[in-house]
Amino acid sequence: MLLSLRIITPLFALLAGVQAAFITDNCKLISHSDSEQNALHLLEPLTNQTFTTEGKEQDYSYIFQVCGDVAGMKDAGLVQKEKKGEKLVRIGNYTNTRAVRGSDWVLLFYEGGEKYDRHCSHEARKAMIMISCSTSTKNEFSVVLEENQKEEGCYYLFELDSSAVCPVIPSKLSAGSIFLIIVFCCLAVYLTGGFLYQRLVVGAKGVEQFPNYSFWSEIGNLSAVSIITYIFVSIYLHFWSFFSFMKQI
Ligand SMILES: *[C@@H]1O[C@H](CO)[C@@H](O)[C@H](O)[C@H]1NC(C)=O
Ligand SMILES: *[C@@H]1O[C@H](CO)[C@@H](O)[C@H](O)[C@H]1NC(C)=O
Repeated sequence: MLLSLRIITPLFALLAGVQAAFITDNCKLISHSDSEQNALHLLEPLTNQTFTTEGKEQDYSYIFQVCGDVAGMKDAGLVQKEKKGEKLVRIGNYTNTRAVRGSDWVLLFYEGGEKYDRHCSHEARKAMIMISCSTSTKNEFSVVLEENQKEEGCYYLFELDSSAVCPVIPSKLSAGSIFLIIVFCCLAVYLTGGFLYQRLVVGAKGVEQFPNYSFWSEIGNLSAVSIITYIFVSIYLHFWSFFSFMKQI
C-alpha cells in the first residue's frame, strides 16, 4: 500500500506539472468541456501580454490579458480604466470564462465583472473578445461595442487580430515532389563532393574537375550520336510513307 502510494504520488505531481505548462489553464471555464479547453489552449501564444485600446468616448481605456491578472486586479482579465481619475472597473474575470472556437476564430467570454449601477438590471458586466485569424504579426486590439442600454444581457465587445487562431495548412508536398527534392539533393552532394575530390585530391584542372568526367562525356557522346541517328531515321520514314501514299493516288 505504502509502496504504491510512493509510486503514484510522483506520477500525480508529474501530471500536475504538465498541466501547469499551459498558462491558459489559469482561465476557469464556467462549465468545463474539452472543446472549450482546446479553444483556450489555442490562445497560449497570446498569454503574458497586455493589450490596450481607447474607449469609444476617449475618456476610458480598456486593458486585456489572456488568462492573467490585469492592472494588478485579482482574477480580472479585462478592466476599464478612467483616464483622469485612474479608476478601475472590472469588466470580466478570467476565472469565469467561456471559449467558443470556429474555423479561424475564437470567441472568449469573461464574465462576473462589477455590477452596473443603473443600467442593465444591475447585472454583472461581461466582456466578449472576438479573436480572429490575421497573418499580420501585429496584434490589433480594439473595442467594437459597449452595449449597456438594454434591460438585460449587456456586454462589452472587443476584437483582437492574431495568427494564433489561424487554421494549420497541411503541407502540400506530394510523394513525387519529395522524391525529386531528394534526387536533386543527392545530385548536388555528388557534384560538389566529386568536384572537391577531383580538384583537391586528384588535382584536376578545367573540365576534368567534374566527377567521373570521362565516364559522363562518353555517355554524352553516345547519346548525341543516338539522337542524331533517331532524327535521320524518323525523317526518312516519314518521307517514305508520304511518297508511298502519293504513289497510291
Ligand atoms: C509568464 O508570466 C508568468 C507569471 O507572470 C511567469 O511565471 C512566466 O515565466 C511567464 N512566461 C513567459 C514565457 O514569459
Ligand atoms: C471575480 O473576481 C473577484 C476577485 O477574485 C471576485 O470577488 C468576484 O466574485 C468574481 N466574480 C464572480 C462572478 O465570480
